[in-house]
Amino acid sequence: MNLFARVLRYSKPYWWRITVAIIATVGVAGMDGAIAYLVKPVLERIFSEKDMGIFLILPLGVIAVFAFRSVCRFVYEYFIQTAGQLAIQDIRQDLYRKHMSLSMRFFNNNPTGNLMSRILNDVSVMQEGVANIVTGLLREGFTAFGLLGVIFYRNWQLAIISFIAIPVTVYPAQKIGKRIKKLSSQSLGKMGIISHILQETFSGIKVIKAFGLEEREVGKFAKFNNEFYHIIRKTIKYAAMSTPVMELITSFGIAAVIWYGGSLVIQGKMTGAEFFSFMAAMVMLYSPVKKLLGTYNVIQRSVGAAERVFAILDEKPEIQDGPLSRDFLRAAGDVEFRNVSFCYNEEYVVKNVNLSARPGEVIALVGPSGGGKTTLVSLVPRFYEVSSGAIYVDGLDIRELKLRDLMQQIALVDQETILFNDTIENNIKYGKPDATREEVEAAAKAAFAHEFITELPEGYETNIGDRGVRVSGGQRQRICIARAILKNAPILILDEATSALDTESEQMVQKALNNLMSNRTTFVIAHRLSTILHADKIAVIDKGEIVESGTHHELLENGGLYRKLYEMQFA
Ligand SMILES: Nc1ncnc2c1ncn2[C@@H]1O[C@H](COP(=O)(O)OP(=O)(O)OP(=O)(O)O)[C@@H](O)[C@H]1O
Ligand SMILES: [Mg+2]
Repeated sequence: MNLFARVLRYSKPYWWRITVAIIATVGVAGMDGAIAYLVKPVLERIFSEKDMGIFLILPLGVIAVFAFRSVCRFVYEYFIQTAGQLAIQDIRQDLYRKHMSLSMRFFNNNPTGNLMSRILNDVSVMQEGVANIVTGLLREGFTAFGLLGVIFYRNWQLAIISFIAIPVTVYPAQKIGKRIKKLSSQSLGKMGIISHILQETFSGIKVIKAFGLEEREVGKFAKFNNEFYHIIRKTIKYAAMSTPVMELITSFGIAAVIWYGGSLVIQGKMTGAEFFSFMAAMVMLYSPVKKLLGTYNVIQRSVGAAERVFAILDEKPEIQDGPLSRDFLRAAGDVEFRNVSFCYNEEYVVKNVNLSARPGEVIALVGPSGGGKTTLVSLVPRFYEVSSGAIYVDGLDIRELKLRDLMQQIALVDQETILFNDTIENNIKYGKPDATREEVEAAAKAAFAHEFITELPEGYETNIGDRGVRVSGGQRQRICIARAILKNAPILILDEATSALDTESEQMVQKALNNLMSNRTTFVIAHRLSTILHADKIAVIDKGEIVESGTHHELLENGGLYRKLYEMQFA
């Protein structure tokens, strides 16, 4: 009921479409009732009174009734379906917006394909239900109501007898509905897994081919594809069962009508024409009642989907805006970690870190793989919330700032160079959409990217495709650096930006980075110590702790972990 109310709330803005549809459906239902009702006077005129005059108006009347019914039907379908689609569009939009507000932790825990499936498939199944609630319940409900009116008006005792079997249908209908609801949730869950496999294998296609494991992936897919079929098969079974059960029960009703109604006619208590009118209404009633029962099943299916959709809409974003919306336009770039600890799950991967950077300083983070460097820097833009302690930017706890304001202060160049399926210009402008072409070019020049961009056939207008596959690794990084330069944020985070490049390309990237780092507080993570010799401070991180810190020379003299790493690289 609660779910139903929430879905209805989404239809509220489209109330006038729904109102028009309801009025039209009353027209359809009225015409159906009229047709059943008119059977009696027409038969009487033809058989008893042998009135030839009836043939002058009757054919025209039939056409008029059906024409009116057709127009009503079209108006109804058009407005109710568009209202449903508009409501669904809003739900999908809300769902997408919700995802944007959820934390990295949420995305770590939910595979991408799964999330896509929820926005695409779950919402579609839900939409089927919404469309059916309104179409089914309204149209068929009104029609059934009109026909019932005729049935009871003609002979209420006979009507009661013909419906004696109806309560018997309630129990099996409920049982079938419940099953279908459960199966719907299951099948959507499986669809999520299938989307996840698709997403993963298509983006990892190179690795699959390199290992020659196409057949194994096909087999893996077949397994889930088949499991999906088995759930759907059960759904089909229950849905297919509902019609025969219904028909069987209806046959008892019809038998009762023939038996009792027929004897009334023979006894002269009912005319033949009345009996036919009654029977016509009964036969016409069969279709809406059958559809109503089908609707019940579709609704059950969509309730399963709606539960999954609303579970996401109700998810509380872990990372919330802070209360400070002051004009924090540009920070000086003072960053301080104070007793910061953090854990993804139970185990702490950052332990009691104290680290501070004055505006414009370059802080290098080095240490063994898995030590917690990436994790530590991802706490600054609040990708994850600190477990204890606090991080300050210009003396303000970052949890007190509006997220937008905080993000405005930080530029990030990650090892994973993410580019969008768009032109190079728009990719560079990502952090500053209103930048002019001159600004874009200046940023590209500083990032040593201008040259190769102008050599591309369409220059800055070149579309670089999904994940930037149409440019080389080093070029991709330089585009990302240009993007960060253009954003011109006071705080910069560089995560291993120079690995995986050849020497020439690395030199170019390094020069680009030097341009990027000037006048910014920079946290740089690099495995190659040669790139960080000139850092103002180097913090050596091992097992989540800062085990050493100082300048390159101080640390060499210390003879600790840094010296060991240094000697290993230059041995
Ligand atoms: N999303 C995550 N969920 C759970 N644990 C994680 C996650 N990311 C990293 N870890 C764990 O946290 C620890 C620190 O990882 P982190 O990526 O910060 O190391 P790193 O110092 O950047 O390593 P590398 O030098 O190899 O990049 C590791 O033990 C890792 O297994
Ligand atoms: Mg890392």
